[in-house]
Amino acid sequence: MPWEGEEPNGRGWTRREWAKLAIATGAVGSVIALGGTVSGQLLPPPARFDGDLREEIYYTKWPTEAWWNGRQGHAVEVSDFQEWQGATGVWRGLFLHGQWVPGTGFPVLVIRVPYDAPEFQVLTDLAPPKGFSFYFDDPVRQIRMVTVVDRCTHLCCNPGWHVITDTKPYRDYRVPSPTYSVYGQDPIFCICHGSQYDPLLLTTNVHPRSGVRYVGATHVHGPTQRALPVVPLRVDGTVLVGGMSDPRWYEYC
Ligand code: FES
Repeated sequence: MPWEGEEPNGRGWTRREWAKLAIATGAVGSVIALGGTVSGQLLPPPARFDGDLREEIYYTKWPTEAWWNGRQGHAVEVSDFQEWQGATGVWRGLFLHGQWVPGTGFPVLVIRVPYDAPEFQVLTDLAPPKGFSFYFDDPVRQIRMVTVVDRCTHLCCNPGWHVITDTKPYRDYRVPSPTYSVYGQDPIFCICHGSQYDPLLLTTNVHPRSGVRYVGATHVHGPTQRALPVVPLRVDGTVLVGGMSDPRWYEYC
C-alpha cells in the first residue's frame, strides 16, 4: 500500500527509501492479484463484493507531511488546489462501508497547472470518453487540472509531485520542459531512476505491450521511454471524476 507508512526520516524520502517502498508496493499488488481482487484495477472487481467502485478521485495519505494528508478519504475537489499544487489520490477504488479498501484502484497524481499557460499542449487525435476531457478546465474560476496514473512507465515506482526534499532532479531534459523552464517547477519526478514527466505537455504514445495508443504526460528525462498515462476528467459539482478510455493504457505494472 503505497501511501500509508511511517515517515522514514522525519523530513523526506531518500532515493533508497523510495526504492524500498516501490518494492513493497509491488509485493502488495502481487498478493492482492493472487487473491483475486483488484490491484491497479487491471482485474475486474471480485464477483462477491458488497461495496462499490467509485469513479471519483479520493485523496490518499502521503507518508511524509503533505498539505492534503488531512483530507485523506475525502473526494478531491478542484477548488482545493492552489496553482502548481498536486496531491496523491485513488481512482476507481473499491469502497466498503464508505471506506476505501487499501490497495484497490489506480494510484493517481492530481496537479493544478496554470489555466492560461500558452505552453500547455495536447498532441493527440484520440478522443476522450464521452463527457470527459484529457484535462479539466474551469473557465469561470480559471482552474486547469491534469491527472496521471501514478505508476512509472519505466519500472513501476510511484512518481511524486514536489515531495522529494533531499534529491534534486536532473534538469538536462531530453526535450524542453516548460514546467521548469518557464515556471521554475520541477516536473513529475520518479526518484527510483530519475524519470520525469511534464504535466504541461500531453502527448500520444504507443503502449509497448498492447500497441494501443494513449495520451500521457511527456517524458522529459530519465530511462523511461514513454509518457505517463493521463486519467480523463470531468467534474461532478466540484468533485473530480475520472473516465476510463482503455484499461490497457495503464498496464505498465
Ligand atoms: S521506475 Fe521510475 S524511473 Fe525507474
